[in-house]
Amino acid sequence: MILSEESVKQIKEKMERYPYRKSAILPALTVAYRQVGYLNDDIYREISKIIRIPVVEIAEAATFYTMFPKQPRGKYLIQVCHNISCSLLGADSLISYLETKLGITKGETTTDNMFTLISVECLGSCSTAPMMQINNDYYENLTPEKVDKILEELRAKA
Ligand code: FES
Repeated sequence: MILSEESVKQIKEKMERYPYRKSAILPALTVAYRQVGYLNDDIYREISKIIRIPVVEIAEAATFYTMFPKQPRGKYLIQVCHNISCSLLGADSLISYLETKLGITKGETTTDNMFTLISVECLGSCSTAPMMQINNDYYENLTPEKVDKILEELRAKA
């Protein structure tokens, strides 16, 4: 069993909010993701048993949404926006800088499992480009100096 008792309880509580069990799929995936940090087939099977929806429907929903990672990630997920505004204001340089600084390339995780770096579509903060999201926080108007400070602060917290 991967899901904790607390997660199972939360999923059951969310299930009760909806007239159709199927509506609980995304909330259940969110609970699982928040506990485990990623989703996989074993987790789909567990959710399937809890909400009594075929496992294929759980997997379909999970694989449709790219915000649900399908493999372990670092403690901090760095998502750099590579869309038009950020691109025009240096997103590519920012990504290259982060790759060099972290010693990884996009899609990889540092060997200490601290940082995973990916690039993503617009995060809705175009007026503060270039920007990135790390876990739930936005970091905007980025420069190499700001990036250095952010990474230092995150490492200090660990
Ligand atoms: S283009 Fe980067 S936040 Fe919109």
